Amino acid sequence: MKSFYITTAIDYVNGSPHIGHAYEKVLTDVIARFRRQLGDQVHFLTGTDEHGQKVQASAKQRGIEPQQFVDETSAEFRALYDRLNVSYDDFIRTTEPRHKQVVRDILQRLFAAGEIYQAEYRGFYSTRQEQFLQSKDRLPDGSWPELFGEVAEIVEANYFFRLKKHQDWLIEFLTENDDFIFPHFRQKQVMEFLKEPLNDLCISRPKARLEWGIPLPFDENYVTYVWFDALLNYYSAVVDQGRWPADYNLIGKDILVPPHAVYWPIMLKACGLPPPKHLLVHGWWLQSGAKMSKSTGAAVNPLTLVEEFGVDAFRYFLIREMNVGQDSEFTREQFLVRYNSELANNLGNLVNRTLNMTTRFASGVLPAAEVSEDPERELHDLWTRTRDEFIPLCEGFQFHTALERMMVFVTATNTYIQRREPWKLGKSAEAKDQALLRTSLATMAEALRLAVALSQHVTPATTARINAVLGYTPGADWRAELTWGAKLNGAKVAEALVLFPRPAPAEKTPAKVL
Ligand code: MSP
Repeated sequence: MKSFYITTAIDYVNGSPHIGHAYEKVLTDVIARFRRQLGDQVHFLTGTDEHGQKVQASAKQRGIEPQQFVDETSAEFRALYDRLNVSYDDFIRTTEPRHKQVVRDILQRLFAAGEIYQAEYRGFYSTRQEQFLQSKDRLPDGSWPELFGEVAEIVEANYFFRLKKHQDWLIEFLTENDDFIFPHFRQKQVMEFLKEPLNDLCISRPKARLEWGIPLPFDENYVTYVWFDALLNYYSAVVDQGRWPADYNLIGKDILVPPHAVYWPIMLKACGLPPPKHLLVHGWWLQSGAKMSKSTGAAVNPLTLVEEFGVDAFRYFLIREMNVGQDSEFTREQFLVRYNSELANNLGNLVNRTLNMTTRFASGVLPAAEVSEDPERELHDLWTRTRDEFIPLCEGFQFHTALERMMVFVTATNTYIQRREPWKLGKSAEAKDQALLRTSLATMAEALRLAVALSQHVTPATTARINAVLGYTPGADWRAELTWGAKLNGAKVAEALVLFPRPAPAEKTPAKVL
């Protein structure tokens, strides 16, 4: 069995989760479930990033201790991921002793090895971003961009990590591992970034300025810079399990350069540890063209959509709509278009027809197929092509196209039903018509079973519910489930299932043709 270790970014807990956070965890979950289906032994890690200036400030604003604040907000993130059926194996919080201990051990090791040194630092500091700025960060008119908030010049003794020393190694590593970052164009951006000389990284904050952090083991007057602390979660969570390196660290494009593409591999290298095998970098959910974020105030609360349309409709939309690596605009209109045309009118309709007609014409017991003519042969052929394309698409993270193919197959099944017109066959007493009727019932049910076997890692609850109403229990070997056959012969189906109720009529949108 191949082991497969995958992680998400750990969320800052200084606000409420929005669709951007939810997307990343659902995407990672889809990959994790897909690998489990293929037989890998998956370890899926997510968690929360709980130290730093912003958390300290938010807690103060509410008049509570930072620990109480992070306990509450971390629980909010975790509850959302549980609600979204995110099948994480471990949830790490950077305030946990198991994490803090590893961070301190590593800092001590790097300090002893001379990779960390003390120096005086004079520079412009952004409190909002918790980082010193460089002159190249200024706008052409000499001012600082809005995103840095208030910027002040300060001088202080601090600890530095020797990034510069490892720059050539990193360039060499990226050159030799051309597929380190997915999508590939991001790797090229990193190579561009590395054309400029790196500065060593300031990794400490004096306790006088920031208390809410992990104290440096060799100087308790300082705490660790938040990125140094946060990145190590991927390692600290599995330190005694022999799982490192991760197969994928999954992150958004805003935290690739420099934290994940530069600091992270160099930190590991300096400790004598291997880098992760890959970074998978997704794009942003946008609203009116701008990144959705808690500070814009316009962020969409994922729970609202989940309450209204169900967990799987939400998961389906995120994965169907976003091309991994690119940005996507989030609109309720587009959500409704997909919900209505793909889930309710296409898949939902196939479920209704299958249950309804099997109940009406076969007393709820699925018959065997007897006839194989053009309509059946064409659907079988389309199935084979769909399945053969689907797995490689998922392996290449092209889940949106994979789901599109699956929906095309569902559409074709509905078209097959239109062609066979079982409701007319049901009225005929002729033996040939009765054989065709049995064939069409068996064919639509089998096609439905196969379609939802494909989308199981995206909409697991829906697949389980459809299998249940088809009176079917799938086997453990997912690939073996994808063969067109006679698994449903004799199965007793339920009379009805309302999977995707329609939204209020006023919101109905024209169906989009696939
Ligand atoms: N705490 C750091 C990550 C540390 S990882 C060692 C952080 N947290 S965050 O809460 O700001 O973001 C968490 C993840 O959500 C990041 O990967 C980020 O890219 C992602 N998203 C936040 N807003 C997003 C969108 N609008 N769209 C898609 N994902 C975005 O960064």
